[in-house]
Amino acid sequence: MVSSFSLFDVLALRREFPILQQQVNGKPLAYLDSAASSQKPRRVIACLEEYYERYNANVHRGVYKLSEEATFAFERARGKVARFVGAHSPKEIVFTRNTTEGINLVARSWGDANLRAGDRILLTIMEHHSNLVPWQQLAQRTGAQIEYLQIDGEGRLVLDDLDAKLAGAKLVALAQASNMLGTINPVREIAARAHDAGALVQVDGAQSVPHMPVDVQALGVDFMAFSGHKMCAPTGIGVLWGRRQVLEAMPPFLGGGSMIRNVTLEGTTYADIPARFEAGTPAIGEAIALGEAADFLSEIGMDKIYAHEQHLLGYALERLSAVEGLRIYGPHSLEMRGAAISFTLEGTHPHDVAAVLDGEGVAVRAGHHCCQPLHSLFDIPATTRASFYVYNIPEEVDRLAIGLEKARKLFVE
Ligand SMILES: Cc1ncc(COP(=O)(O)O)c(C=O)c1O
Repeated sequence: MVSSFSLFDVLALRREFPILQQQVNGKPLAYLDSAASSQKPRRVIACLEEYYERYNANVHRGVYKLSEEATFAFERARGKVARFVGAHSPKEIVFTRNTTEGINLVARSWGDANLRAGDRILLTIMEHHSNLVPWQQLAQRTGAQIEYLQIDGEGRLVLDDLDAKLAGAKLVALAQASNMLGTINPVREIAARAHDAGALVQVDGAQSVPHMPVDVQALGVDFMAFSGHKMCAPTGIGVLWGRRQVLEAMPPFLGGGSMIRNVTLEGTTYADIPARFEAGTPAIGEAIALGEAADFLSEIGMDKIYAHEQHLLGYALERLSAVEGLRIYGPHSLEMRGAAISFTLEGTHPHDVAAVLDGEGVAVRAGHHCCQPLHSLFDIPATTRASFYVYNIPEEVDRLAIGLEKARKLFVE
């Protein structure tokens, strides 16, 4: 089963993830919550450990050996990340803490400088709170109006009224892949139409960059935010990619050390990008480990990772559709789907389902997945979500399906 599924040796790859080798509740761990956070391979953990054990020092400041080595590795990681997403230059890569911070940076810096009362911000109904709340806050500060693209019954964006909704829009902000529905949005098409209407495009890449080949230039967007911890890197490090000319025209986000050119008691001039947006000491070891994670994923091949997940997803949709009373949210067609499946099981509460699965060693998430408006649209408070990554195998899908049958027997029959 496994070998026919994989374009790479997934069993060998799993052995690179120490955490996957354990038993949970007496069963081998089936980790199906990578949409929340991915696991880390040994080489990424070793990279972080090596930094702290051998060359831990602050960057961009010291003239001594350790600091030079840390600075070199930190900037080399920026270059790796730039290549990973097809950026024009490493200067376009701003290190942040996570996707959330990247989006807040754009809203605070670009948004405050460019939006006025009556301007429109176009979002979609499927956004994670991270790509919703910062824009609502911006609208409150500026008097801008927010408009939402709706979805159809399968969770695909409705684009019939896109041009009408783009009238007067200064910014379109959308996820490339939904963390609840799994929907992959046609970002390239939306970006082209948004630019024709004079709007910039900010993409939430939290669920796409870890899972599929992403080339920011080919997509034709202006900003892309993503998180290291969802792509095999540590927590505490994320990325905002921004088109160079756009970033260069933006004022700083946070003020402090490292982001200045010159400070006097009368005022301050600011550093060039990306330093202008990286106030204070960054997450140095974590950024270096993110570079290692980007290498790790690239060496497997993002096209192969995407294909692997598509196989798993296809198998999971087939297996789960056989479970009586299970409703799966999101597109039926694989081409429009990322690696997350949210569902409800008739007659059960999503948290109870997750608890039964935990008893079987299957880790899934239950809740609103930071998409409350989307859950309200479906008139449900919560769903259970299984999500897949490069290290998952079909046997884990089987265990998910068996666990769901068990939950059904327990609560429904
Ligand atoms: C689509 C989407 N956007 C944004 C985020 C926020 O990511 P972070 O918490 O790493 O900032 C997530 C996290 O689950 C997500 O799935």
